[in-house]
Amino acid sequence: MLHLELDHRGALNQQVLRALKRAIVDGRLAAGARLPSSRALAHTLGVSRNTVVDAFEQLVAEGFACGRVGAGTFVAPSQWPRGVASGAVARAPRLAAYGRRALRGESKLQPAERQRLRYNLEYGAPLVSPAMQSAWRRALSRAADRSAFDYPPAQGLHALRSAIADYLGRRRGIAAAADDVVVLGGTQQGVDLALRVLVDPGQSVVLEDPCYRGTRYALQALGARILGLPVDAEGLRVERLPRAGARLACITPSHQFPTGGVLSLARRIELLGWARRHDAWLLEDDYDGEFRHDGRPLAALKSLDVDGRVIYIGSFSKLAFPALRLGFIVVPPGLRRAFAAAKWLADRGGPVVLQAALAELMASGRFERLVRHSARALLLRRDALLAGLATHCAGQLEVEGGSAGMHLTAWLPWLRPDALPGLVAAAAVREVGIYPITPYYHSLAPRAGLLLGYAGLAAADLGEASRRLGPVLAAARSSRGNAAHFGQNRQSKR
Ligand SMILES: Cc1ncc(COP(=O)(O)O)c(C=O)c1O
Repeated sequence: MLHLELDHRGALNQQVLRALKRAIVDGRLAAGARLPSSRALAHTLGVSRNTVVDAFEQLVAEGFACGRVGAGTFVAPSQWPRGVASGAVARAPRLAAYGRRALRGESKLQPAERQRLRYNLEYGAPLVSPAMQSAWRRALSRAADRSAFDYPPAQGLHALRSAIADYLGRRRGIAAAADDVVVLGGTQQGVDLALRVLVDPGQSVVLEDPCYRGTRYALQALGARILGLPVDAEGLRVERLPRAGARLACITPSHQFPTGGVLSLARRIELLGWARRHDAWLLEDDYDGEFRHDGRPLAALKSLDVDGRVIYIGSFSKLAFPALRLGFIVVPPGLRRAFAAAKWLADRGGPVVLQAALAELMASGRFERLVRHSARALLLRRDALLAGLATHCAGQLEVEGGSAGMHLTAWLPWLRPDALPGLVAAAAVREVGIYPITPYYHSLAPRAGLLLGYAGLAAADLGEASRRLGPVLAAARSSRGNAAHFGQNRQSKR
């Protein structure tokens, strides 16, 4: 007797159909064999006869069986390759080198299943404001009414590119025209396209150490040779730049990610000179340079780029929110066509309605008001976290890199780096999410430190997070051999 198993997904007739197909493909129902009568099968499966008749008819329509319902239905005389149904699924799929290399970083980047801790200091959580939500709702509905339904230009809607160029001129000191801008699906797409366009597998690329992992994993997937260079309070240690061979340097000059240093003017000049002498490119990730909490925003490295060596990437993930998946790249004129072609190949251009809504918000001035609102909210949050840490964690942490953006680093000179997972677990018991800086290094992290994001929590919650963190740090510090005590659990995913 034929034994069929239903998978309990979706409509019953489809379940019966899938079960019959599986039986045919894996050979339990041989070519030419007669199918059981619809009445008998309905009885065995506990479904109505109509359900089975329906599945039989579909089986015939798709060529898996032949005959007329009533006169008998027979499996079509096809030879199925052995093991198609089960074996192929079980074996690891054969991947190209890119696919294999992409998988190496994948487990660490899998998205934002953020820990459900009440006081989660996770970097990357967005700043959400009701003003932003309602501005977007209105802009989106207007854009949906007005947008064309055809494909957009691959580089992005002209109105948006022109608004971005205008914005960059006023806020980041960059002289760009709409034609220099390509609208992207976020920084990540900018990095991906820049690497495809400029770097071949095996070529060398300079990367800050520590660095943003989205860039590092994109380089690894491409098969580039990564040259990690240390950073300090003035950003990349440019005196360590290689004398030859590097095609590109990926940098975060306005706010080194994650340590927070700002690349000094002397180093900017040295870096631009290095690119010119070595015919190399500079990929500037200006992810949060707009949010400078102490002093005026610094102009971007791109603003000094007289030789056309800097490819500038900006993101709306921080200026607005990451769910938008919109960013942009400003490319030197000689690279425009190559970037536009790569963007076309990647996705034929970004979503029109989103681009139109953003263009309208920017042109009307509302976008900049929202950015200023976010900047004020971030400053309040940063100050609340600094004050909380100073009050409740005094003497336990050395705070650095909080002069811009949405995060700061907190070093724990008294803790062994391998004891961080235990500290993370102890903080989680008190509902506080803290995150080691270790995964951002390609080399061994020189000391224990935390990357603390503050955009996603209100000022009062940041104070409470610090209040809860204080005793956790004190307990870790006073426990003898803190590595032995705190080092048992493995580090968390992000
Ligand atoms: C250093 C850095 N670059 C870029 C981004 C933004 O990436 P995307 O625009 O792909 O959201 C982030 C976000 O966390 C970041 O930390």
